[in-house]
Amino acid sequence: MADFFKKGDTGWFQKDRFGMFIHWGIYALPARQAWIRYKDRIKIEDYKKYFDHFYPDLYDPKEWARTAKKAGMKYLVITTKHHDGFCLWDSKYTDYKATNTPYGKDVLKPMIEAFRNEGLRVGFYYSLIDWHHHEFPIDALHPQRDDKAFRKQEKHRDITKYAEYMRNQVRELLTDFGKIDIVWFDFSYPIENGKGRDDWESEKLYKLVRELQPEIIINDRLDLPGSADITTPEQYIPSEGLMDDNGNPIVWEGCQTFSGTWGYNRDEESWKSVQMLIEMLINHVSRDGNLLLNVGPTGRGEFDYRAIHCLKGIGEWMKGHSRAIYGCKNPPAEFKAPQDCRYTWNPETKRLFLHIFAWPFRTIHLEGLDGRVKYAQLLNDGSEIKFSTSENTVNSGMSEKSKDCAVTLTLPVKKPNVDVPVVELFID
Ligand code: GLC
Repeated sequence: MADFFKKGDTGWFQKDRFGMFIHWGIYALPARQAWIRYKDRIKIEDYKKYFDHFYPDLYDPKEWARTAKKAGMKYLVITTKHHDGFCLWDSKYTDYKATNTPYGKDVLKPMIEAFRNEGLRVGFYYSLIDWHHHEFPIDALHPQRDDKAFRKQEKHRDITKYAEYMRNQVRELLTDFGKIDIVWFDFSYPIENGKGRDDWESEKLYKLVRELQPEIIINDRLDLPGSADITTPEQYIPSEGLMDDNGNPIVWEGCQTFSGTWGYNRDEESWKSVQMLIEMLINHVSRDGNLLLNVGPTGRGEFDYRAIHCLKGIGEWMKGHSRAIYGCKNPPAEFKAPQDCRYTWNPETKRLFLHIFAWPFRTIHLEGLDGRVKYAQLLNDGSEIKFSTSENTVNSGMSEKSKDCAVTLTLPVKKPNVDVPVVELFID
């Protein structure tokens, strides 16, 4: 089986580290997240009003792309179709698409053009689940799962026809929009009354994708063991990164939200702070992962003002600190980060970045680094950070003694004026 699955190109992906996820569709109108149909058990006919009122007149994809770029993001993953089945592009295979709403235009094409023009790569999220398609069998996650009459009436639904619809759409998406860097299928749930590889015909889907876009990165939600280029933990950060059974590192990308849900959610108040989000990005990279951070634009076609605020804050930090993110990974095992700190490591430049989450008073000991550090500086302003080792400090009791084998940094008393200060260590 291993030969069957050819690997996509993850080289750029592991260097770029930071992407923007966008969940956008007609669920922006009820403004209570993308799972609204499921959650409120909304019937297909009652959901239609959102299709009939989709009119994102303020939609300016160039502005979206500029915002993503300024935040330091390097790639986009956009929901071409989410679980509700609504398509952002002018698909030949359905009427349930942006071009048939009052807005009347394809929203996908201008988006990917805009992001590419800002130098970002483009990935397509495509929902395997489809609560609108007439051949998608009602299952445990369907909005009308409890509607006995509806289930009975829809018993004839034929998943093989739906699987073919998916292949047609995927072919369209991977043919008409130029080079696509990621395909992000979502998701399998091979539970009782669920769906998995046999339903999706995952193998055929996989083959088709590889054939059309040989280098594309394919995620891990097809329920097809051995096929994934990336693993996608969702709304948590694996505490030690991810390894396969033989202890080899797995390429992974955590997908995260600002406030807990994916689509625009007007009343959700659980927004993370800028500081938390920056720490989140660092936590991903320091464990050898990528961060895919999600925005849920509004029904008028704008980013949520709270998302704009957070992205701006991240961007300010990235301006001074992106070299501690791009091209970086987890450090070699012998570098153990001190308490309240994380390391990221650039193996090419041999720079070790010490991210300090809680600012200590004056000193910090870096174990295992004795004799390895050539120079140290704060990244935010390039100011030198002096350091000593146990050999060259005199233990008079009046100043802190360095620990054995450690390097002791002397930090300014005041925390630098950035959310997460970083010391750049030039390693021998
Ligand atoms: C989950 C959700 C889906 C969301 C995805 C993003 O699988 O079902 O709504 O798009 O996560 O990771």
